[in-house]
Amino acid sequence: MPAKSIDYDSVSKIYDQVRSGEPEMIFHLLEEYLPDSRSKVLDVGCGTGNNTLLLQKATEAQVFGLDSSLGMLLEAQEKAQHISFIHACADGIPVKPRSFDMVFMTEVVHHLPSMDDAMQEMSRVLKIGGRLCIVTQSHRQIEARVTSQFFPATVAIDKKRYPDIPEIEQSMKENSLTETWSRSYKFAPVVLGEDFLNTVSRKGYSMLHKISESEYQEGLKALQQSYVKRERLDYAAGYSYVWARKSAD
Ligand SMILES: C[S@@+](CC[C@H](N)C(=O)[O-])C[C@H]1O[C@@H](n2cnc3c(N)ncnc32)[C@H](O)[C@@H]1O
Repeated sequence: MPAKSIDYDSVSKIYDQVRSGEPEMIFHLLEEYLPDSRSKVLDVGCGTGNNTLLLQKATEAQVFGLDSSLGMLLEAQEKAQHISFIHACADGIPVKPRSFDMVFMTEVVHHLPSMDDAMQEMSRVLKIGGRLCIVTQSHRQIEARVTSQFFPATVAIDKKRYPDIPEIEQSMKENSLTETWSRSYKFAPVVLGEDFLNTVSRKGYSMLHKISESEYQEGLKALQQSYVKRERLDYAAGYSYVWARKSAD
């Protein structure tokens, strides 16, 4: 089946109804590197700015967001008028070299047409000694998702779509981001409630747009039955944080 691309301008209208910022995600980011009041931070693929705003509130840094979807950025700008948002692609960041102390992206790397082109650009805009953090899911974490249980066709699709951790670290190393390390966090297990069913019912996860309609309907029916039976579903696949420090231009 050819890969269906996701129209984030349309998704922007419902994104905040089905997805919110994850304070725990930003907490682990800041645990590793805390920017100070002189720091400039860029959130690449910031979407509707949920994590941009969380990070800005938790630090004194000057925070910027960048996204290729104007629809997503308009939502972001409405809720965070004091943050500067840039409409651009990750592989063409319209700022001078060495502008940022930290660049991060959460749940974006699997959407990039070329991770290497974006990596080159993110490295270019980082200062020497600056940090890059890519928050994503490893192939093992994709297998462990609760959605993988109900929509098994998403596993192979997402393993193809998501670069695994060694591939990300390799791309970093090839782009002057020579010191790399990764951490994985299993967030506190959340017993899934109506919100999760609502998100799935509205295809609020991008991989649900990639499977056939019959595969989607079959999984949705099984999930609804699981709710009727009051089965306990934990959402705890976790995330991987792939870090790099820029060593040179
Ligand atoms: C799943 S959303 C994640 C949004 C946000 N980072 C979050 O965690 O809520 C993916 C975002 O990446 C953006 N995106 C996809 N490809 C991009 C690219 N090449 N350059 C910049 N943004 C991109 C989409 O427009 C969308 O807003």
